[in-house]
Amino acid sequence: MQMLRGKSRRWKLIAAGIAAVLLSLVGYLSYWSSTNAAMLRLLPDSLPSNPALYRFAVAEGQSVFNQNCASCHGRDLQGSQTNGVPKLTDRDWLYGEGRLSEIEQIALYGIRSANHRTKNLADMPAFGRQKPYARYDLAPLTTAEISDIVSYIELAQGRSPDMAAVKRGIDLFDRKGQCFDCHGNDMGGDNYIGAPMLSDKIWLYGDGSRETITRTIEQGLMSVCPMFKDKISPAKIRAVAAYVHSKAPVSPPAD
Ligand code: HEC
Ligand code: HEC
Repeated sequence: MQMLRGKSRRWKLIAAGIAAVLLSLVGYLSYWSSTNAAMLRLLPDSLPSNPALYRFAVAEGQSVFNQNCASCHGRDLQGSQTNGVPKLTDRDWLYGEGRLSEIEQIALYGIRSANHRTKNLADMPAFGRQKPYARYDLAPLTTAEISDIVSYIELAQGRSPDMAAVKRGIDLFDRKGQCFDCHGNDMGGDNYIGAPMLSDKIWLYGDGSRETITRTIEQGLMSVCPMFKDKISPAKIRAVAAYVHSKAPVSPPAD
């Protein structure tokens, strides 16, 4: 009898313990889903000015990033110059200016993915090929012509290339190669079509040596960032955008 009473007391204690755990789990889940809902009700760019929700999103976003994005962008968001994957912690955005809404659009639809809303307005032509560009006609460049253009890029990089080559390179950049059309007359790039700046020291692909620049111009680039719209929930997409946003230097305020 004594033993039985002891046992039933123990069971009551265990049952109370389980109930407490379940209650706090339910509590946490309802907090979690209502916070997720609140996060989604806001315009993405107003999330950063809502500190509690932003902190929640950034914390959620870190594990989403590690699971879905780190394989290419790296857990430290430093990218890979071997694979042409950009760093996400600098001010040098291929697309847009690092606003949360812009990052979210890329996480949703990707870059050059199969979705019709993806970013896909231009590629880097392969000037070493007979037909450099699939989207419209561009003339191929000879090895000597590419070498002259690389000298011009080297000048913009602050190096001291052969100035006769630079002079020919400027003409090729502005006319036959049509480089200015995407990268801008001043090599400043175009963050609407994802054409990188060529006059800074931030390289998407390679280390900025003559060899890697030459290779990019000869072989072209059409890097793909996958879309995640069908893989992860809208709340997780917003969270991962907040996480990436939080790692970049202060972005411009929302319009
Ligand atoms: C399979 C590799 C891969 C994965 C996985 C991947 N990305 Fe990307 N991402 C890329 C590449 C490559 C680019 C550069 C595309 C280009 O050069 O136009 C890129 C570009 C981006 C950019 C644009 C950066 C800029 O400078 O404008 C953002 C933002 C981004 N990715 C976010 C993400 C997020 C968030 C995830 C996960 C949800 C993710 N990526 C997963 C390969 C990947
Ligand atoms: C039709 C638009 C277009 C034209 C014309 C064009 N580019 Fe590009 N270029 C791009 C795009 C877009 C990228 C990035 C592609 C990617 O990330 O997949 C790029 C990337 C590059 C890169 C790599 C930069 C880095 O950070 O690694 C170099 C170098 C470059 N272009 C040089 C040139 C030169 C030189 C010319 C002219 C001979 C030229 N481009 C013409 C669109 C263009």
